[in-house]
Amino acid sequence: MSLNKHSFIRGIYYPPGDKSISHRILILAGQAIGKSEIYNLLEGEDVINTLKAMRLLGVKIEKKGNKYHVFGVPPGGLFQPNKIIDFGNSGTGIRLISGLISSNNIKVKLVGDSSLSKRPMKRVTEHLSRIGAVIQLRKKLFPPIKLKGTGNAVPLTFEILIPSAQIKSAIMLSTLNTKGTVKIKEFKSTRDHTENMLMSMGYNIKVKEGLTHRFIEMKNNKDLNTINYNVPGDPSSAAFFISAACLKPGSRLIVKNILFNKTRVGFIKTLKKMGGEIKLIRKRKIHNELIADLEIEQKRNLKSTTLKSFDIPMQIDEIPILSIAASFAKGLTIFKGLKELTVKESNRLQLIHENLRKIGVKSKIENYDLYIYGNHDLKRGGGVIKHNDDHRILMSFFIANMICEKNNIIKDKSCVKTSYPTFFKDISKFIN
Ligand code: S3P
Repeated sequence: MSLNKHSFIRGIYYPPGDKSISHRILILAGQAIGKSEIYNLLEGEDVINTLKAMRLLGVKIEKKGNKYHVFGVPPGGLFQPNKIIDFGNSGTGIRLISGLISSNNIKVKLVGDSSLSKRPMKRVTEHLSRIGAVIQLRKKLFPPIKLKGTGNAVPLTFEILIPSAQIKSAIMLSTLNTKGTVKIKEFKSTRDHTENMLMSMGYNIKVKEGLTHRFIEMKNNKDLNTINYNVPGDPSSAAFFISAACLKPGSRLIVKNILFNKTRVGFIKTLKKMGGEIKLIRKRKIHNELIADLEIEQKRNLKSTTLKSFDIPMQIDEIPILSIAASFAKGLTIFKGLKELTVKESNRLQLIHENLRKIGVKSKIENYDLYIYGNHDLKRGGGVIKHNDDHRILMSFFIANMICEKNNIIKDKSCVKTSYPTFFKDISKFIN
């Protein structure tokens, strides 16, 4: 069945494994001596590229039935890869593994696809150079990253001025082979999975949160323990289904086993503020991560809202789908401080604005703030969506078909493979 203006969402949904956690568990289990087991790993292209990178760095990883076995090498023990490492579309992969390698005495060249080759890397490498790694970037900013790590990393204090879990995690991974105490100050709105996983693996890490900032202290005087990890469902993937269910009358969705970390579910808070009926029906904590089951029922039309800059990192990947929700919500919605959205897999801020116009929704951008003039009328639709192979733009404007008179035209849908290879199969199970 195809998705269109008559569609609504019903059923019991298990989102695919979380992408951020999948990257991190492969990397950290890869530094724990012995065998770790991973269930429900996201088998999207981004994560598979991280898996291949870890193999090239000497970690044995085997798939047995529905789980992955990872046999780690100790910190400082990464192998010299015998070829260039390709991260495809993945900013998380290239940035986190740059950090990991920077404190190992090996030399690598890290590359990516045309989108990744345009994304800023200096924000990460400027920190890694300070510990003693020697790094060269294209035009001093972009991949390829030519990196010579140091076996003698200097323990430092870092202050990160951009709210970015990728920058923080790159530094944290470099500390695995840094002798002494490393301190990091960063914005507390960024995702904290690296911290939670390190704690679960017995690492010496202390985390304190203030009003706006997080303070992390790490010492590499304890080995990482192996771990058996069941990757929870990805809220960023589930966001397409949850938003759709909040939008369309007749919808009722149960979401099982979703990662409910507060740095990841800002979009749920936003949808609730807009009048979405989302109920927490069960929660539990596993490996320091909150996991939940949810019930969503469409009971009323959504209304507009305003998001402040500080709230954006907690829903940074969900702004595209929230823009669709805002288009169908009564009144003016404002998302403030979206500068980071311009350096994602595409310039998402610009593409959201352009595509909203194509489907018949008025919006404007002013100083990185996005204004969306929403109402509860069906949109014109029939637009040729420009997605520049950005998975989240594509999936968001596919969901937009539910609120358009005429379906939109989306050419080449293959980029969903980076984060959600089964997106179209899954959506066909839940639409009515
Ligand atoms: C991610 C962090 C975010 C997010 C990305 C995944 C991570 O990027 O947009 O999809 O796994 O650490 P930044 O932290 O750079 O904003």
